[in-house]
Amino acid sequence: MKDNEEVVRLVNVSKRYYLSSSVYVDALININLAIRRREIAIVMGGPSGSGKTTLMNIMGTLDKPTGGRVIIDGVDVTDADERYLSKFRLERLGFVFQQYNLVSQLTALENVMLPMLLTGRYTKDEAREKARLLLDLVGVGEFANNRPSQLSGGQQQRVAIARALANDPSFIIMDEPTGSIDLASSYLILDLVKLLNRAIGVTFVIATHNMEVAAIGHRIIYLRGGGRIVSESDLARIKEEFSRLRVDQLTVIKSYLRILDLEERRLRRLGQDLGEIERRRDLINSFIGST
Ligand SMILES: Nc1ncnc2c1ncn2[C@@H]1O[C@H](COP(=O)(O)OP(=O)(O)OP(=O)(O)O)[C@@H](O)[C@H]1O
Ligand SMILES: [Mg+2]
Repeated sequence: MKDNEEVVRLVNVSKRYYLSSSVYVDALININLAIRRREIAIVMGGPSGSGKTTLMNIMGTLDKPTGGRVIIDGVDVTDADERYLSKFRLERLGFVFQQYNLVSQLTALENVMLPMLLTGRYTKDEAREKARLLLDLVGVGEFANNRPSQLSGGQQQRVAIARALANDPSFIIMDEPTGSIDLASSYLILDLVKLLNRAIGVTFVIATHNMEVAAIGHRIIYLRGGGRIVSESDLARIKEEFSRLRVDQLTVIKSYLRILDLEERRLRRLGQDLGEIERRRDLINSFIGST
């Protein structure tokens, strides 16, 4: 897939929820939009209930529209059955939800391994090694053996991002990714998303009503639809301070280069083409060259 190619196209998408046989809510009406590879697209809405989650679920094939077509990676998935879609999602999409949605019985490492093992394309050793590197990449490598309940919200969300990256998705869908986490962790996550986009070329669609999340986007899609008090000046100061937080770029780059090595070994093992690996190396090298 090349840059600027569309990863998602929605054509006249509508969603009507019937509350009874005669009462309904139109959550989406004739939505037309395209998401291009390598962009960060933001979905915002007016008041709560403007249809952001509905739109994200449709783009993620978790829900079907009641009208229109949904095309992902050039494939019209509108009428595809759930059996096909569950495999499609596993192989091509990454999800990050407000409530993390990690599997509580599994460790952080196992949560990230799971999508790789489910595809059957990774041996257990490969999945474990790549999961470790992904946890390093998102900055939570030292918590690999913790279960979700033993992690903070911000740490869980970074594990969720590592999991979303596991199968190199076409794009990652985030629905209010910072909605449940503290301000400092939120800034780190936003910085990580920006870096993953710039350095590694990950495409994101992010639903939010937070302006600071929206600020990292290249483009905003706006849906019309339907304990301690912090003073304004304190809030401005705190935001100033937190907005200077940065992820360790070197760690991200080093971990990613090792992941590419692992992928190269795996593709060699499978006798597959290495062109994509070369393209990814070129991309990260040009990022390194630009900083
Ligand atoms: N499963 C459902 N059944 C019936 N109505 C629904 C369902 N899901 C959503 N709706 C309605 O569709 C509209 C859009 O909801 P949606 O959750 O997509 O909005 P949102 O923009 O994500 O809201 P929020 O900002 O609160 O997350 C709302 O009026 C909601 O009540
Ligand atoms: Mg929502």
